[in-house]
Amino acid sequence: MIKSAETFPSERQILFDRLADKLETAYNLSRKVVSFQANKDEPIYRWFKYKEGFSSALVKYFLSEYSPKPGKVLDPFAGAGTTLFAGQEIGWEAHGIELLPVGSFVMETREALNKIDTIKLKATIKTLWADIAKLEKYHNHIAHISITKDAFPEETEISLNKYLTYCSKLKDKRIQTLLKFAAFSVLEEISYTRKDGQYLRWDYRSKRDLSGKPFDKGKILSFEEAVKTKLQNIVQDLSPTQNTSLFEQFETNGIEKLPVNILSGSCLEELPKFKSNSFDFVVTSPPYCNRYDYTRTYALELVFLGNNNDQVRNLRQSMLSCTVENKEKIDYLKQFYTSIGQEKSFENILNVYNNSSAMTEVNSILDELNKLEKLNNSNIARMVKNYFFEMCFVIFEMARVTKSGGYCVMVNDNVRYGGEEIPVDLILSEFADNFGYNINKIFVLPKGKGNSSQQMGSYGRTEVRKCVYLWQKR
Ligand SMILES: C[S@@+](CC[C@H](N)C(=O)[O-])C[C@H]1O[C@@H](n2cnc3c(N)ncnc32)[C@H](O)[C@@H]1O
Repeated sequence: MIKSAETFPSERQILFDRLADKLETAYNLSRKVVSFQANKDEPIYRWFKYKEGFSSALVKYFLSEYSPKPGKVLDPFAGAGTTLFAGQEIGWEAHGIELLPVGSFVMETREALNKIDTIKLKATIKTLWADIAKLEKYHNHIAHISITKDAFPEETEISLNKYLTYCSKLKDKRIQTLLKFAAFSVLEEISYTRKDGQYLRWDYRSKRDLSGKPFDKGKILSFEEAVKTKLQNIVQDLSPTQNTSLFEQFETNGIEKLPVNILSGSCLEELPKFKSNSFDFVVTSPPYCNRYDYTRTYALELVFLGNNNDQVRNLRQSMLSCTVENKEKIDYLKQFYTSIGQEKSFENILNVYNNSSAMTEVNSILDELNKLEKLNNSNIARMVKNYFFEMCFVIFEMARVTKSGGYCVMVNDNVRYGGEEIPVDLILSEFADNFGYNINKIFVLPKGKGNSSQQMGSYGRTEVRKCVYLWQKR
């Protein structure tokens, strides 16, 4: 058991003390196992790194450890589909919801891969550049938005557009998807930008007027160089001469693979439409409450997939609130729950949120710090409030759809603002408890941002916890 050494009896401390025996340092869950890095043996993850993802190993571990036989698994924040495809590989019926078209496109490619004709693919790639050279005209497939304008050198953009024009003429839809995916995977490399969490960082060589210290991202590859290497890697990974070709790897374990079911949209709207008690497991990782802006980080990919300014802005606002730009969704949620005849559920969720003393404490402290101008952005207090408010809805719905005895595994990080630790693990677990989940364990990663079990004892003064929660439906 991890003891608290804090003497100040804040509401967060009281909650910590109540749940302290659930916190357990999990030495078998390193940061690497939990994060996408452990996926490097799986081709699709090597081709496009969705750094916000967790690992297939983590998903398979929990599903096999806690369920004697495969059933139905759900991920309401499916990302690039780790839960869905890892579950599918070990015989589960997998369902997912994802809002961002970036994740949906990766999942679509994964599905295409399952049945791709590799011989035809190789033949297409062999004549690709000669065929592109023969194109008489090409179309502009990239319609930039303000935050991506001039992201590519002119020449690069022309090559990219020619390549996409060629792709659009391909009759085999799976090969078309895979070739588009190869280009999608090199967008950062060929651009003047670097993904940086809250926004894109721009290289000094771009046409943009940049202030501050000049940023040099190093070598910027031409489109042809980058995509040729990517296609080479893809073909190598798919090659039947290797004893673990992607195709064989999926086929040999003798388990019948059920189709994965992917819904595009917000889980805040999609989850309430699912039947109660219909899933054996939920394995998920929501966005963290850390100001990370997926719509800016993935702006190039969103534009590549055809999203315009309004669509990107709408996506930003529909996402679970985790940036300072998110507006509150209370009116929208009230209207939505009323429209599906679930006003009572809305009131119940609102009460659970309002009755959490630790939550109330966090909100009032952040409001106070905001007044004193001690937060480095005046919308942080609003973001935190809305993050938990929306997660309260998600957790209510996850608990509702989980069968009695079924589990929910959630990966999430705690955060700190203005020096105040926000115990995301404890507050979300308290919500979960209210909605019918038992809190079995809060596994704490051993080197989660530098904490140790002793340090964890002195609540609030140390590095924040990175956790995997295990909840079981009563
Ligand atoms: C931490 S990532 C999940 C990554 C995933 N576990 C994987 O391995 O790829 C969180 C995901 O939630 C998605 N998301 C954010 N708000 C959402 C919403 N309201 N509905 C559905 N998905 C949402 C984001 O686009 C992001 O892909």
